[in-house]
Amino acid sequence: MTLLDQSVTTWGMHGPIVRGELPGPGSAALLARQESRESNARVYGRHLPIAVEEASGPFVRDVDGNVFIDFLTGAGVLSLGHCHPELVEVAVQQIRRFGHGLDLPTPAKDAFTAAQLSMLPAGMRDRMRVHFCGPTGANAVDAALKLCKTATGRGDVVAFSGGFHGTTHVAMAVTGNVATKAPVANLVPGVHVFPYSHCSDCPLELTRDTCATNCVALLERTLRDPNGGVVRPAAVLLELVQGEGGVVPGDLDFVRRVRALTRELDVPLVVDEVQTGCGRTGTWFAFEQYGIEPDVIVASKALSGIGQPVAIILYDERLDVWAPGAHTGTFRGNQLAFAAGAAAVRIVRRDDVLGNVRARAAQIAQHLEALRTHPWVHDVRGRGLMWGIELADPVDGRPGRLAERIQAHCLAEGLIVELGGRDDRVVRLLPPLNVVAEVVDVACSILLDAIHRTVPAGTGLPVAAALRR
Ligand SMILES: Cc1ncc(COP(=O)(O)O)c(C=O)c1O
Repeated sequence: MTLLDQSVTTWGMHGPIVRGELPGPGSAALLARQESRESNARVYGRHLPIAVEEASGPFVRDVDGNVFIDFLTGAGVLSLGHCHPELVEVAVQQIRRFGHGLDLPTPAKDAFTAAQLSMLPAGMRDRMRVHFCGPTGANAVDAALKLCKTATGRGDVVAFSGGFHGTTHVAMAVTGNVATKAPVANLVPGVHVFPYSHCSDCPLELTRDTCATNCVALLERTLRDPNGGVVRPAAVLLELVQGEGGVVPGDLDFVRRVRALTRELDVPLVVDEVQTGCGRTGTWFAFEQYGIEPDVIVASKALSGIGQPVAIILYDERLDVWAPGAHTGTFRGNQLAFAAGAAAVRIVRRDDVLGNVRARAAQIAQHLEALRTHPWVHDVRGRGLMWGIELADPVDGRPGRLAERIQAHCLAEGLIVELGGRDDRVVRLLPPLNVVAEVVDVACSILLDAIHRTVPAGTGLPVAAALRR
């Protein structure tokens, strides 16, 4: 089966079909029922007003028969697209045999563990241990920080502005977004947030020529300064490409100096690869591209390839100080996720999916290049198949509701994209890793058209004012 077959399969199509106004009548009815029954904290249906009937490869069909290209893919979960036929087959066979196994060893779990270790660089495979967490990224972040606290006997944690690590108490405490934290009093104490290398938003307005990576210098000085006010932390927690934070790749010098500092001070470096892992950035893990080796890796989202939940931490065995039962959880034995996850790694290797990530990344970069000079586009950023287009009013630099309107235009034309970053000003793309060139071309042309129609190049204040109304 070729990548093209896998990506386009069942429905044999390259483009979307949207028949009328959104939401269609079927979606509108389900959205209304959802609104009357579910929590006000629900999110996605507010910006993407569709109810989904079925999905295949990069396509999603709503209950009214509209077909969309999905460049959100379950927030980066569906790495091989929706319902990849080989993974579905493996999962179906597994559920007939054994579905749930706590943390007992099973052949499916054994193969999954071997597959995860096999993705690590050769020098790390023998010294990293795997812990199976409760099946969400946030639970694995929690586990990573608990492990580091136990191993070091220290209590504080360093995290970075703009980071996102989930919405449980501890994950929210180490996350940047203030609006979501503010209503929840007394989150986990001892968290120190330092600036991330968000170069397009540099408070010192430095350029590449004048920059000395001052963002990391603040962390270096504070942690080395006996009067710096911050005790030596149990862990430094870092995303190598901030995803929800607006697709911000960490600067090379920044990341390397964080690694050097944490080594020097004997502080475990935890990289949160929940979104960047499993090949999303073009290498198995994003940290490989920085030439560093972390002490703890947090992984989840795409581990099963088809959305079966599973989360793990991989950590240096010198940190293996936990007593039995130190981080338990009933749902740590999802055999469907294990069987599909091991198969997903085999498929990624067999079909050179990482090569496809790099080729499609170059293709997307080429499509988006013209936006760099667009007056309303503040920045275009990407690594592998994570891309973000940051929008701002050319006159006052404010985001208004531009990204939201572009997202709505894209959906109306049959493309699902996500928002992120400060004030949701970044339009984000997270296509499946096996997406084919034809689908990328169609998606990018919908996106570019939506941007040009929403914010015509060369226009100034009057349009900005109109958009904000
Ligand atoms: C980098 C990162 N860490 C952690 C999480 C939290 O994962 P979950 O939503 O499964 O708890 C996310 C979710 O988007 C994420 O992007």
